[in-house]
Amino acid sequence: MRRSLFQTFLRLLPAEPSHKLRMLLLGIVGKLPMGKWLLRRRYAPHDTELQREVFGIHFRNPIGIAAGFDPNGDRLNELSALGFGFVEIGSVVPRPQPGTPRPRLRRIRKENSIIDNSGYPSRGLEYILSKVRHRTPHTANLVLGCNIGKLTASHIENSTKEYLRVFRNMYQYVDYFVVNIACNTSSKRYVLRSRKEIMELIEPMFEFRRGQLDYRPILLKISPDLSCEELDTIIDILIETPLDGIEAVAGSLNIDPDCSGAISGAKLTERAIEVVRYIAERTERNYPIIGTGGMMTPEDIKRMMEAGASLVALNSGIRENGVRLLKEGAKSLIKN
Ligand SMILES: Cc1cc2nc3c(=O)[nH]c(=O)nc-3n(C[C@H](O)[C@H](O)[C@H](O)COP(=O)(O)O)c2cc1C
Repeated sequence: MRRSLFQTFLRLLPAEPSHKLRMLLLGIVGKLPMGKWLLRRRYAPHDTELQREVFGIHFRNPIGIAAGFDPNGDRLNELSALGFGFVEIGSVVPRPQPGTPRPRLRRIRKENSIIDNSGYPSRGLEYILSKVRHRTPHTANLVLGCNIGKLTASHIENSTKEYLRVFRNMYQYVDYFVVNIACNTSSKRYVLRSRKEIMELIEPMFEFRRGQLDYRPILLKISPDLSCEELDTIIDILIETPLDGIEAVAGSLNIDPDCSGAISGAKLTERAIEVVRYIAERTERNYPIIGTGGMMTPEDIKRMMEAGASLVALNSGIRENGVRLLKEGAKSLIKN
């Protein structure tokens, strides 16, 4: 994919400042009198063929934003104007957490990848609630997902309580939930693998949902480093419980043992597609999968959908190749 001049410039900067600058400029353009109109006109895909219904929700197109791109929901209006089909905010944690000290994101330029050691910085539940409580006309049609993650500082034994607190508080303001059981890059041992551990975390959410008027789909976000047996455990949970889908995958801690951090971007592409294909085949494409990980080019997006994803979420692809990826990716999904 050819990068714009602006994107080429952004890639000269270190990974974190480059993302900050993009988000700052996006915010400035969004506030100009015709700013959001301009963003929509230049970047948003409009083809009605892209619309779809997934886990009971209408998406204007299947390409969205993965967690960690706009973790606190600061740019929802602008991301909506750019035309993304959905935005997953988070990981949302109950209290603010600063993340690990900088520099904590590193580019592997030659391989179009990012090593993430951020520890998932977040402004915390109260701040994020203030961002999603009132939908503006710009975000009224935006599908909003809430990714719930583990607070780095808290003990694993407290996780169930903390995840549930975020879930309950966010319930009425978002359209679906993703429960991150992968890792948060600074609690590397926090990768839930056993059925018992996973059920302890999600069962209270099912129970809370049973008492609500509105239904919110719940998905699990999984690590790409799971073995086939561990993936089978997740698939069994999907088939046998009220879980609505799977988001595959988070950054990998295994793909490159020399890297200390979670690998995202092009080095993750093949493994992400492989995991999605495995789940889709074992479930006979009967359950929704959000394909995340290494979606860097329109071809990657097309291959991910062909492997069985119902939706595709981008993070490193935009950081490295720019927002053009949305429109070009959407084009690749339209049948000629
Ligand atoms: C800087 C950064 C921050 C991230 N923060 C989160 C997060 O808070 N929660 C989460 O579930 N995933 C997080 N991720 C993982 C992404 O959502 C995604 O699963 C992963 O980066 C693979 O996709 P990609 O190759 O398109 O980047 C983060 C990734 C990066 C690079």
